[in-house]
Amino acid sequence: MAAWTSKIIFLPSVTSTNDYLKEKARCGAEEGTVVWAAEQTVGRGRQNRHWESRPGLGLYCSILLRPQEPFSRLPFYTLFPALAVVEAMEACCNLAVQIKWPNDLVIKKSKMGGILTEASLQGNNLHYVIIGLGLNVYHQESDFSPSLAPHSTSLAREGGRIADLDSLLQEILQVWPHYYQQHHLLPSLVDLIEKWENHCNHMNRRVEVKEGNTIRCGLFAGLNSDGFGRLLIDGTEVTLAQGELSLREVKDVAGC
Ligand code: BTN
Repeated sequence: MAAWTSKIIFLPSVTSTNDYLKEKARCGAEEGTVVWAAEQTVGRGRQNRHWESRPGLGLYCSILLRPQEPFSRLPFYTLFPALAVVEAMEACCNLAVQIKWPNDLVIKKSKMGGILTEASLQGNNLHYVIIGLGLNVYHQESDFSPSLAPHSTSLAREGGRIADLDSLLQEILQVWPHYYQQHHLLPSLVDLIEKWENHCNHMNRRVEVKEGNTIRCGLFAGLNSDGFGRLLIDGTEVTLAQGELSLREVKDVAGC
C-alpha cells in the first residue's frame, strides 16, 4: 500500500473549507489534499448549523479522501477521524478528549470540536469523501456566542499544552494513516468500534435522541458492526443513522 501523504492548502479566509475542497475534488484534486483556513465566513456544522470560525481561534480544516469503497462504509469515515483527533490531542496537548455520538469531540461534557463528513457517490460507491474538522483551540468563554458558551470549551480552557495550530494539524495528519490506511478496505471494523466505544462519553448511559420532531429515550449500547449507533428502548434495539440526530444524556426521567 502506498504511503499516505497530504498536501496542505492554507487560506487566510474562506467561506467553508468543506465547500472549497468540494470544488477542488470535482476538479480532480488528489486524495490527501487538505484545506486549512485561518477563518471561515460560512463555516457549517451538522444539520446545517452555523460553525463559529473566528480568525486564529480554532483549527478549521478539511481532508479529501478517495476511497474505493461502497457507500455502506460511510459510517467509518466519521468514526476514524474522531479517533485520530482523540489520539492527536492526547499526544500533543496531553488532554483526554471523548466522543459523543456521532461525532462531537468533548472534554468533560463540553464540546471542543466536531466533524462534518460529506460524501459524493458514484453509483453505489463513494466517489470522494470530505472530512471537515473544527476544533476550538484558543477560545475563552467570551469568544463563544451566548447560546454556545455554556456547552462549549477549548483546548486552552482545559489547560492543554498547545504549541500552535500548525502543530495540531501536523499531529492529526501524522496519526491519520494509522486509522485510515489500516482500516479502509478491511471487512471488519471490530477493533475500531471497540476503541470508539472506549472513548465514548455516554456508553451504557440513558440518553435522549432527537430526530426531527421525534424524541426517543433509551440506553446507548455502542455501535453495531456497520458503525451505526445502538439504542435500546425497553429491550428493543433501534439503529441510529448518522447525521440527523442530536443526543443528550438524561438522568432518571419518568417514561424514559
Ligand atoms: C459539528 O459538530 O456540527 C461539525 C462541525 C464541523 C466544522 C468544520 S470546520 C472545518 C469544516 N468546514 C466547515 O464548514 N465545517 C467543518
